[in-house]
Amino acid sequence: MEGIDVYLSRATKDDRLTNDDWEWLWKNGGTPWAKDAVNPWLVQYIDELTSKREGVRILLPLCGDTFDMKWLVDRGHRVVGVEASETAILKFFSTHEIEYKVEPVEGIENASVYKACDDRLQIFQCDFFAVTKETIGMFDSIWDFGALVAIPPERRQEYVDIIKALLSSKGRIILETIYHREKNKFDGPPFTVEDEKVAELYAPYFDFKFLTQRTNHEIMRKFTEIGFTQFLNVVFLMWILHDE
Ligand SMILES: C[S@@+](CC[C@H](N)C(=O)[O-])C[C@H]1O[C@@H](n2cnc3c(N)ncnc32)[C@H](O)[C@@H]1O
Repeated sequence: MEGIDVYLSRATKDDRLTNDDWEWLWKNGGTPWAKDAVNPWLVQYIDELTSKREGVRILLPLCGDTFDMKWLVDRGHRVVGVEASETAILKFFSTHEIEYKVEPVEGIENASVYKACDDRLQIFQCDFFAVTKETIGMFDSIWDFGALVAIPPERRQEYVDIIKALLSSKGRIILETIYHREKNKFDGPPFTVEDEKVAELYAPYFDFKFLTQRTNHEIMRKFTEIGFTQFLNVVFLMWILHDE
């Protein structure tokens, strides 16, 4: 089976994907989102993400094996990923030939943290819904790519409440949403998140500004079985509003 077919065999089942399903996808090559390159938008918008500060502590929720983590660490930032799949995390370290140590996480049952690069890179292997500021700390910036859109709609508010609790008062988020339409009924993941939904989820504490968008022809071509008539990646910058 091709990677896309492996993915669809799980993503189109009636029930929501469990963390065991995600692990199965990683083990069986069903990860069509995984790229062998840094996201060009991270390179383009790094100054907006960090406010041009150095040594920023950046969270990548639902990080998978994204190359973005290494790119940020190489630029002197402190990077924390959260990922349920052990296979994804091991793949990241073996791809980049980075040595790491593994420790248990105080306060989260059955969780491990993979530490590398003098602890400037830490990947927590656990359910994102289990993390708190006490267990993983606070962040200056959050790079949310392929994360909110992977969360089932009925758990979005819970996810955003955790994100809000982890961001420091001057912090910034860059968020990718996805908007898709298709001939065959396909719910997700990735799930469509409309612009109004972004406002509803993050208001009244955040202001946000549209950065960019693009039609993803590659995905539309790859997922012919679903028959996408539209597949749009949209990127927002968000920051916390302060009382005057
Ligand atoms: C669509 S992928 C995106 C990965 C990465 N952000 C990227 O852009 O390449 C979603 C990832 O979230 C992980 N995941 C899904 N639900 C999770 C949860 N509740 N807690 C932690 N990780 C989760 C999956 O294993 C998968 O690696």
